[in-house]
Amino acid sequence: MVETIPSFGLGTFRVDAEKTVNAVKSALQLGYRHIDTAKFYNNEESVGKGVRDSGIPREDIWVTTKVWHDQLRRADVVKSLVDSHKKLNIGTIDLALVHWPSPDSVVPIAETIAGFQDAQKEGLIRHFGVSNFTAPLLEEALNAPGGEGIVTNQFEISPFLANRKLVEATQKLGVKATAYMPLGESRAHKDPTLNEIAKKHGVTAAQVTFAWLLSRDIVVLSASTNPEHQQTNWDSQKLKLDADDIKKIDALDEGERHAKPPFAPKW
Ligand SMILES: NC(=O)c1ccc[n+]([C@@H]2O[C@H](COP(=O)([O-])OP(=O)(O)OC[C@H]3O[C@@H](n4cnc5c(N)ncnc54)[C@H](OP(=O)(O)O)[C@@H]3O)[C@@H](O)[C@H]2O)c1
Repeated sequence: MVETIPSFGLGTFRVDAEKTVNAVKSALQLGYRHIDTAKFYNNEESVGKGVRDSGIPREDIWVTTKVWHDQLRRADVVKSLVDSHKKLNIGTIDLALVHWPSPDSVVPIAETIAGFQDAQKEGLIRHFGVSNFTAPLLEEALNAPGGEGIVTNQFEISPFLANRKLVEATQKLGVKATAYMPLGESRAHKDPTLNEIAKKHGVTAAQVTFAWLLSRDIVVLSASTNPEHQQTNWDSQKLKLDADDIKKIDALDEGERHAKPPFAPKW
């Protein structure tokens, strides 16, 4: 079994079910051992098939799914995870996250955590965590009974949204920060600073972005259905940026969120 969340994962948001099987399969064959999906993405069956067809032993792979924000009552959490477990069809799910906090905290986080603990007892999931939690919400969750089991807070981080305060608060609380939308909705590829640093190292702007996140001890989720992109993205783990590179990337922060649905918490 993979005991801790692997630092580089494949995302599957906005990847249609048909393409997901091959994307997951090729990523795993290239060396990825962490796949991120969600009930909301409607592709869990394909993720499971990709995992099963990859030829990589199941116990070497970490699969994360998420529970949507309208399913956070104790019994609903279990029901949602019974369905995810069935659709993925890969045995116990490694990690399940609260996808977004309960809007206006209508469902107390303690109740949701109790649902995750029920799911653990039933063998549906091994670990649980949260996503899109602000620092005060994360602290509240950690202080709820069983909250110490939270392994990660997954939220938007890119060179254009360094999210420094939330990263620091999450890490200080002993929780892994996981970055989604790391390329800033494809902006990274065109950014002159990232391209200048990429040229210096003979790599791509995406690789520079991922190396910068890894240097901050942040788990990276990158989504690609293209095996060549998957390979170069994966290779970014070998890239070491210098202090001057990091300083230049740090200066790109604009503090602007792109993921801001109407039910998002007040950041
Ligand atoms: N918890 C949440 O609320 C939440 C929200 C959003 C996302 N997420 C998770 O985080 C994952 C990552 O976010 P994201 O999907 O926005 O990922 P992303 O990696 O920032 O962007 C994915 C896009 O970038 C392209 N791309 C990737 N590598 C490339 C490269 N080397 N060169 C050129 N284009 C490249 C992909 O196209 P190709 O397929 O052509 O390579 C795809 O269109 C999601 O898939 C999902 O699993 C979670």
